[in-house]
Amino acid sequence: MVTRSTSEVPISAGELDPKRHDRGGFDCGVEPLNRYLRALVVQHRAKGIATTFVLFDSDQPVTILGYYSLSAATLAFERMTEADRKSLPTYPVPAVRIGRLAATAARRGRGLGELLLQNAIKRTLLARHTLGVYAVVVEANDASAEAFYRKYGFRLCDVQTRQLYLPPGRSP
Ligand SMILES: CC(C)(COP(=O)(O)OP(=O)(O)OC[C@H]1O[C@@H](n2cnc3c(N)ncnc32)[C@H](O)[C@@H]1OP(=O)(O)O)[C@@H](O)C(=O)NCCC(=O)NCCS
Repeated sequence: MVTRSTSEVPISAGELDPKRHDRGGFDCGVEPLNRYLRALVVQHRAKGIATTFVLFDSDQPVTILGYYSLSAATLAFERMTEADRKSLPTYPVPAVRIGRLAATAARRGRGLGELLLQNAIKRTLLARHTLGVYAVVVEANDASAEAFYRKYGFRLCDVQTRQLYLPPGRSP
């Protein structure tokens, strides 16, 4: 699926294919996130822990431009704002968790982060055809990641774990 053509390269998105995409060549500048892509994604996919999706250069599919991983999750009722709680059951609501999200450091600030987030939200909305999903949740690594998610309407719901959620109807 061609997602977008920037002035630089046409970009496609899809599930990570370890035989096709070069995980070792990806560098987002954050070593734990590079290592996760190299060492854990295949195992996590096989075990049903997380599924990883990549953006790649359509003309050169081996090159990963960014990735994110998705898992099933829940969001505690108490963590939502009062307005969001209205008309919701008082037990944890179903959610999709963006476990990790990273863009190649070589193209920082050129829209890849936004594209990754849009793609993750689109997939989450598609998942609603199969199972209930109320919100998207994420645990930001640091203040900078938190600022990135807040920019797109995510609300901080737990200061300690830096958990944020995106309620329905808000998408980048
Ligand atoms: C966070 C990250 C994905 C952003 O990717 P990017 O390609 O540089 O971001 P984009 O170019 O798509 O930026 C989209 C918008 O977000 C803003 N933005 C990007 N990084 C931001 C940050 N750290 N804080 C606040 N806003 C940020 C940009 O200014 C831009 O807004 P604008 O269009 O109004 O100027 C990237 O910096 C990254 O991979 N970081 C390392 C891994 C990481 O921290 N991941 C997030 C948590 S797991």
